[in-house]
Amino acid sequence: MAQTMPLEQRGITASRIALGCMGLGGGWQAGALAEEHYDQAERAIEAAFEAGITMFDHADIYGRGRSEQAFGEILRRRPELRERMVLQSKCGIRLADDRHAQRYDFSKAHILASVDGILERLHTDYIDILLLHRPDALMEPEEVAEALTALKASGKVRHFGVSNMHAGQIRFLQQALDMPLVANQLDMSLYHLDWLDHGVLVNRRSGEAVGFDQGLMEHCQMNNIQLQAWGPLAQGRFSGRSLEGEPEHVRATAELVARLAREKETTAEAIVLGWLMRHPARIQPVIGTTNPDRIRACADAVRQSELMTREEWYDLYNAARGVKIP
Ligand SMILES: NC(=O)c1ccc[n+]([C@@H]2O[C@H](COP(=O)([O-])OP(=O)(O)OC[C@H]3O[C@@H](n4cnc5c(N)ncnc54)[C@H](OP(=O)(O)O)[C@@H]3O)[C@@H](O)[C@H]2O)c1
Repeated sequence: MAQTMPLEQRGITASRIALGCMGLGGGWQAGALAEEHYDQAERAIEAAFEAGITMFDHADIYGRGRSEQAFGEILRRRPELRERMVLQSKCGIRLADDRHAQRYDFSKAHILASVDGILERLHTDYIDILLLHRPDALMEPEEVAEALTALKASGKVRHFGVSNMHAGQIRFLQQALDMPLVANQLDMSLYHLDWLDHGVLVNRRSGEAVGFDQGLMEHCQMNNIQLQAWGPLAQGRFSGRSLEGEPEHVRATAELVARLAREKETTAEAIVLGWLMRHPARIQPVIGTTNPDRIRACADAVRQSELMTREEWYDLYNAARGVKIP
């Protein structure tokens, strides 16, 4: 198994787990930020540091900008924290407004303006990594390259990556760039299993129904592209959230996770994340909890990933699929 994360191989000193900040700032409904939002952000940052998490994931759209604003207020009050962090944000999604439906926008003008907004809200001069949030059907790689080259030259962004892209899209964009794409953030968890099923169900019709194209995992691994998992806690399904209305196999998986956690004297969160991190791609979970106790409950995941046997890993996979692998 590779010993270092792909990000480390690119010279980026990132923690094995990142804290996703989508839940900061009060959510998606409009409203002014208040002291309670700053408190929440500060407590989450402190819990993350306690758990050994030093990388933070944002997007310009989270909370319509208020997630970055709440976090940035903490950096304004405590600027010494900035150098202890790896900051990642995303752009490229434009939310619906009075005139237009939601759309994607990888135009040079939009990317440049988005980064200026991100830096202002986060109270920082640079971000470590900028991800293009979702593939833009109208993407023109040369135009994107112009924007990213300008951002790197100005020092506003140090590295670039993508999110929710398949291998063909990554290759298409990469051929226009003279710097490597360092990350791809995808929906991967013990609950959303498409990323695994596609590879396991080769030459089966059931394997064709999933959205991970041929070789996406392998492409990222072979090209040192850090796979980051969004939604890695399965929104709490296997670690204590009410399972009312969930199918039987989700309940059975939650019970298996709880049993393993008891036997290994750890938390359910550490088992759920440890399972993802046991994969040889050195997947980096981007946890979305804002609850300090839950953030701390994730800390043991690194150790659990190293302790997890093949048998335990496949038992969890089979349970979570609900249908045994062939
Ligand atoms: N690239 C993309 O397209 C994309 C899309 C979505 C998200 N993301 C990123 O990925 C991060 C994580 O995504 P996510 O939030 O969907 O995933 P997650 O980490 O699987 O779930 C976190 C959510 O589940 C709740 N939760 C966790 N454990 C719980 C429990 N035991 N009981 C009740 N609720 C529980 C959390 O609430 P509490 O805060 O109350 O703990 C939070 O709302 C985001 O913050 C964002 O940075 C990226």
